Formats: sequence, structure tokens, C-alpha cells
Amino acid sequence: MGMKTETACLHAVRDKTHKTGSVAAPIYQTATFAHPSVGESTGYDYSRSGNPTREHVEKLLNALEKGAGALAFSSGMAAIGTLMELFSPCEEPEIIATDDLYGGTVRLFDRISRKNGIKVNYADTSNLPEFESAVTGRTKAVFIETPTNPMMKVTDIAAVREITAGKGILLIVDNTFLTPYFCNPVSLGADIVVHSGTKYLSGHNDTLSGFLVAAGAEILERLRFIQKTTGAVLSPFDSFLVTRGIKTLAVRMEKAQKNALSVAKWLKEQPKVTAVRYVGLPEHPAYELSRKQASGFGSMISFSVDSAETARSVLNRVELILFAESLGGTETLITYPVTQTHADVPEERRLSRGIDERLLRLSVGIEAEEDIIADLENALNLSA
Ligand SMILES: Cc1ncc(COP(=O)(O)O)c(C=O)c1O
Repeated sequence: MGMKTETACLHAVRDKTHKTGSVAAPIYQTATFAHPSVGESTGYDYSRSGNPTREHVEKLLNALEKGAGALAFSSGMAAIGTLMELFSPCEEPEIIATDDLYGGTVRLFDRISRKNGIKVNYADTSNLPEFESAVTGRTKAVFIETPTNPMMKVTDIAAVREITAGKGILLIVDNTFLTPYFCNPVSLGADIVVHSGTKYLSGHNDTLSGFLVAAGAEILERLRFIQKTTGAVLSPFDSFLVTRGIKTLAVRMEKAQKNALSVAKWLKEQPKVTAVRYVGLPEHPAYELSRKQASGFGSMISFSVDSAETARSVLNRVELILFAESLGGTETLITYPVTQTHADVPEERRLSRGIDERLLRLSVGIEAEEDIIADLENALNLSA
């Protein structure tokens, strides 16, 4: 059906099996399913292998991402951890990953994947010549996060696809920041799309979840087998919460983006703010590229202040804005990457990327923009 994304968020999947006509997809809170007779199945056997409530959210996200199928996990990290099981140490696989990644993904790659014989090389994937020179005969996959967390660098997904085409290299894109509402990596050549559904998809800071969307059926079945075997599936109730969150994805993304642009413009004018990174500002180096490969800029901002004292004071003084790890929810959150999201990235690497004690990250929510700005004004301009 050729519906617009905002319509698809509500109507792409209808649960026709439910005889009451329930508008909300029912929650099948069950671990197992009874068989009609020996050798017969209702199509469901055991909730780790399949559950109708989970299937509903999987079909919904897949319809939005335009893949061959999606799998729902108990968290974004569970999804990425499962994904890494695609690679076998016998092949001595190498993965090229964006050098400015969510810290939890770096921890997984450096502390778990590496010991399992997978070598992850970091490169600035927004710099195409640097990326191309990192490709070797052993490269099995490229893992891109765009815009990056927290430095807001943007990678040209279609250009990376062109460089890797025909080399047997899987292109994996973490689309958490933009969601399928603003960006569709499959149409740009991605083989697998990753999500922390904890963020914009569920959108209310109330549940963890993760997704893998496969562009092709073969890779989907391999991932499905690994998921069923290793078991980090999304529970029926959390699946329901994500389905419910996706219903309002379009309005939340639009409102948060509008707020983010106002906040970014305001931050630029503040004497104690030394840098503002928001891809929706026309002076952002990737503004044009973002317009080319996405229909929006999202609502993540990072900014630097004049000293570590100012940064800490802002964190202590915000009242409306919550000093909390995470992003993409209805409430505006402020994060200190150096001690929170990126604490586990080795210091030298962290500092070389600009993640220092003066850096703050904002996930702009859907409050009135005046209230967000007033809170920042108080926190920033009353700071030491
Ligand atoms: C871009 C990105 N990918 C993946 C993750 C991991 O997801 P989760 O926290 O749901 O495990 C996060 C979490 O912050 C993230 O920001």
C-alpha cells in the first residue's frame, strides 16, 4: 500500500485474527501455545520462537523500514549482540565501524566481539577516502551510526554502499537517531538496520527494546535462527508499548525537531556556549548531505560550554530538563557523555573525538520550546 509514513505508523499492520475488532493489538501474555493435535500447530509454539504481539510490532517496524522482515529484542544492545553472532572467528572477520559510536556499542565491540575473534576497526565513515582506505580483503561488514552519538557526524550511506558494492561486505546502519520517519537506510543500500527502540520508536522513556531489520530474506532467516537460539526477545507487554509508541512517531518527531531547531539557535547565542552541533543548522558541515539522504534532522544536539565547571553546574541546575542517560523520549533529557554514555570509551580515543568534560548532549523532547529554553537559560546563565 502506498501510504505515507505517518499513516503507516497507525495502519500498516492490522490484527485481523482478533474477532472482537479490537483497535489496539491485543497483548498475548503467554509463554507457550497449546497444539490442536500431534503434528499440528496454530503457527505459534513457544514465545521465544514467536509471539503474536511481538510479531505485530516486528511487522510494523518492517513496513516502516521497507525491509524483508524485522526482529524485536529486549534492548538495542541485545539486537547488536545478536547481530555479531553472524560472524565466525574462523573467517578472521574484520568490521569497520564509525569511530564516533554510542559507548555501549564500543564496549560490546571491544570487550565481547574482540574476544570472540571479531576485529573491529574504527574509521571516520563520514570521510569517504578514510573509510575506503580502511577496507581490506577481510572486511565482512561496515557498521555505521549516523548522525553519530554525540558528535553529530553524518555518513553518506549510499556512497559507502557504492564503495563496498560487490565485495561481500554487509552494510549495517544504526538508524536510532532518525528513525524510519526521517530516514530509510534500506533504500540507500543498507543490508541491516539496527534500532534502539528504547528511544524514538517507543518514545516515552518507559521501555527498553531493540530491533534488527533485514533487507533480504536470507539474512533475516539467519538472524531469526540466532535470536530464537540465544533468546533476547522482546516481551509481549513491551512489544505492545513499542507498537503504541510508534502510533505517535510522526507527531513526536516533528514537534521534537521543531523544538530542537529553536534550542540550537538559542544555544548559539549564549556567551558560555563555545560550539553547537545540530545537523539541522544550515552551517553544520553535513546539512546538505542530511537533506539529501533524510527528510528531517531529528532532535539530538550536542554542545560545548566554556569550562567543565559550567558543564557540571548546568547538569546540577536544570529543573524541567532531566539529567538522565537515554534519548528520543517525550521528556527533554540532558546527558554528560564523559561520565555516562561514553564512560567506557578509552580516554585517549574519547578525547581525540572531542568528548571531553565541556561537552553536553541534549535529547530535545516535546514540551513547549519556551519552557525548555527558560530552563536552559536558568541553568546556564546562573552558572559560575
Ligand atoms: C545509537 C544507539 N544505538 C544503540 C543503543 C543501545 O540501545 P539500548 O540502550 O536500547 O540497549 C543506544 C543507546 O543509547 C544508542 O543511542
